[in-house]
Amino acid sequence: MSHVSAPAATSCALILAAGKGTRMHSKKPKVLHTILGEPLLGHVAEALRPLFGDALWAVIGHEAEMVCAAFAGRPLRFVEQTEQLGTGHALMVALPELKRAGMKKVLVVNGDTPLITTDTLRDFMFYAEGADVSVATLTLPNPGAYGRIVRRGGELKAIVEAKDFDPAVHGEPTGEINAGIYMLDVAAVERLLPRIGNENKSGEYYITDLVGLAVAEGMTVRGLSCGSDPNLLGINNPAELARSEELRRRAIVEERLAAGVVMHGPELIRMGPFVAVEPGAELFGPCELYGHTRIASGAIIESHCVISDSEVEAGAVVHSFSHLDHASVGQDCLVGPYARLRPGAVMERDSHVGNFVEMKKARLGEGAKANHLTYLGDAEIGPRSNIGAGTITCNYDGVNKHKTVIGEHAFIGSNTALVAPVTVGAEALIGAGSVITRDVPEKHLGVARGKQTNLRRR
Ligand code: UD1
Ligand code: CA
Repeated sequence: MSHVSAPAATSCALILAAGKGTRMHSKKPKVLHTILGEPLLGHVAEALRPLFGDALWAVIGHEAEMVCAAFAGRPLRFVEQTEQLGTGHALMVALPELKRAGMKKVLVVNGDTPLITTDTLRDFMFYAEGADVSVATLTLPNPGAYGRIVRRGGELKAIVEAKDFDPAVHGEPTGEINAGIYMLDVAAVERLLPRIGNENKSGEYYITDLVGLAVAEGMTVRGLSCGSDPNLLGINNPAELARSEELRRRAIVEERLAAGVVMHGPELIRMGPFVAVEPGAELFGPCELYGHTRIASGAIIESHCVISDSEVEAGAVVHSFSHLDHASVGQDCLVGPYARLRPGAVMERDSHVGNFVEMKKARLGEGAKANHLTYLGDAEIGPRSNIGAGTITCNYDGVNKHKTVIGEHAFIGSNTALVAPVTVGAEALIGAGSVITRDVPEKHLGVARGKQTNLRRR
């Protein structure tokens, strides 16, 4: 293990993320493709964050606006490469900005290497200290389309892209490839960059040419071999995305299992990198947990649930086939099966939401129940109220959204439409089948439906 002190304020990281990702066959820029719900670029940025804080830049270009929007509010600085002329060109575009910020060293990482870890990066930086150009390498049984490492007498001499590789010129391939992680001295690189050309099979400016140029200048150049660590493999096509996603999924699941989370069918559980599941929580696969979700110890998540950016407290049970997104489920609550909690759904302690109930921007008070076939949108439901089957808060008038407020211990009869804005007082009772358009005072019965007439059959 290394002992690098916190990087100097003159060190930064640059993520290369402007490419289109042609081999993904997708309109979406490659770095926005996700692994366990988080874009590739986010994985890379979060691995770098502990080392660089907010001295973190990304070069973007293809669908730059889409990338910016996806990272709005996150501490990542962007430089735009309007034409994607290659990885060397991406660095040329970013360098003036890094210099303006007073940076002397830059760790450059390909944006399509999402499984890279902070520990590996820290070790690499330790190794690279004092060099002008350092590169992390991998040794694979088949070097495929990766850039090939050329050494002489063990010393790194050049990186040659697969397309341009010629054994007659470069020697027999050794299986050692370029991982796409570089530590660069800004002043050194500034001298070399203008000499990178694009006379190669791709017609692109390659960052990898810096190695050969630096060697020719007698600069200090190092290639750190990282064995065959699969976490350092770049992603260029859907098969590689699936491979890396599965690797990461398994690593996260195994780590949580070891910490004491109970999992049934762990091979079918998908959990994002920022999900916090406390030891003693119980999960049934298949299920998916994404974003900043937190599952407390003693909570149970049954199979076929998809939960994003939500909290589930102790003693709560989320039954099968429920979807939670930006929702909060309090202690001892029951959810589903087949419940949908949309953004702003808040269930207070011991409240119940049953099958085919949807909540959006709505709060269900302590001990309140909405057990069947209900929509609660823009609503406040008081503690211990009972919302009958088929109740609908009619929150939208075609232009604006309005609020429904229900007091504590109210009873809403089945098949009631509450036309918002409307308030139902505490301990009020609404007759089944009512369309409620006016407020109902507390402890009153509100009924609004056609009177029944019984006529003798002819
Ligand atoms: C690159 C390396 C190769 C290495 C491999 C490791 C070069 C020339 N080759 O190849 O040696 O083995 O990574 O995974 O660098 N990008 C830009 N602007 C551009 C072009 C690319 O920002 O103009 C970004 C891409 O979004 C991507 C990264 O740079 O995140 C690497 O580009 P990519 O086209 O994937 O390079 P590879 O062919 O994989
Ligand atoms: Ca790549």
